Amino acid sequence: MAIKAVLLLVFAYLLVEMPTTSAMVPAVIVFGDSTVDPGNNNQISTVLKSNFAPYGRDYFGGQPTGRFSNGRIATDFISEAFGIKPAIPAYLDPKYDIRDFATGVSFASAGTGYDNATSDILSVIPFWKEMEYYREYQSKLRGYLGNDKASHLLSESLHLLSIGTNDFLENYYILPTRSSQYSVDKYKDFLIGIASNFIRELYKLGARKVAITGLAPIGCLPLERTTNIIHGSACIEEYNNVAKDFNVKLQGTITEMNQELGGIQIVTLNTYDKVLEMIHNPTRFGFENAEKACCGTGYFEMSYLCDRRNPLTCSDANKYIFWDAFHPSEKTNFIIADYLVKTALVVFR
Ligand SMILES: *[C@@H]1O[C@H](CO)[C@@H](O)[C@H](O)[C@H]1NC(C)=O
Repeated sequence: MAIKAVLLLVFAYLLVEMPTTSAMVPAVIVFGDSTVDPGNNNQISTVLKSNFAPYGRDYFGGQPTGRFSNGRIATDFISEAFGIKPAIPAYLDPKYDIRDFATGVSFASAGTGYDNATSDILSVIPFWKEMEYYREYQSKLRGYLGNDKASHLLSESLHLLSIGTNDFLENYYILPTRSSQYSVDKYKDFLIGIASNFIRELYKLGARKVAITGLAPIGCLPLERTTNIIHGSACIEEYNNVAKDFNVKLQGTITEMNQELGGIQIVTLNTYDKVLEMIHNPTRFGFENAEKACCGTGYFEMSYLCDRRNPLTCSDANKYIFWDAFHPSEKTNFIIADYLVKTALVVFR
């Protein structure tokens, strides 16, 4: 009797546990910029690259991959937390094929933005082109899994967008064209219109689980602080305010789309407060430096300027919120991913 009861319990346990151990989200499919590019830029002709040391020195095998980090990026940690795989490959990386991409892939390109004019600046992959690659991916996936399985997988997969910083910091506030055409408020609307069209397109193509990031406190990136030297290298409040307002507008649009598009679930990933909390209280998170980056002097180096021969590069990137002057360290990426997985992304687990 006792043994029977135990067996029954074990059986019941297996029934309950089996489905949850196989992931609810079978793949994370990523679009965006350097925050989520695992190396697509390695395969294109641009100066914006990071597939050399010291990038990747804390990645598996100490390998530089084209991630703008000393290690993994947030989407790698999200994929891992979802029980899928520890790193998401770049779509253009010839080492991988559709068998790998079926469980997660990134179309992101460092330096890109919502605005076509942003990707033109450093000749990186425009956002619309990421959608073209995604269509190609879908047709390969249908060839690999068959139509029905592929459609099911796509509807269950998390489609994650992380983009927008470069539209302001590389484009609007640097070059004259957009700032003469649009007020900053109108430019936000322009970008959010592109985001909204992109998500509608994903919906038409079968996506049902979507996450889109707002902007982080972009005025606190070390490179921006460096340009604010007359104010003691403080965060640039104007940029932070743009980010906050952008996030409010984006949230409004996403709320409307959730009501309009039947069966879709779109969440916004708001990292603004968390990142600012880290910058204001670095020691609470185990950091020692919130203002300058690990690589080089920490004030301006990124991409080719972040050089392995620079004697000033820090020895322990875990003590820094920023790895280079424009990008978070692996530890920051982990904290952000962990936070998102436990908050906004909970609905997909
Ligand atoms: C960006 O460029 C593509 C390709 O030329 C075009 O189809 C699209 O409409 C452009 N987007 C905007 C917002 O102008």
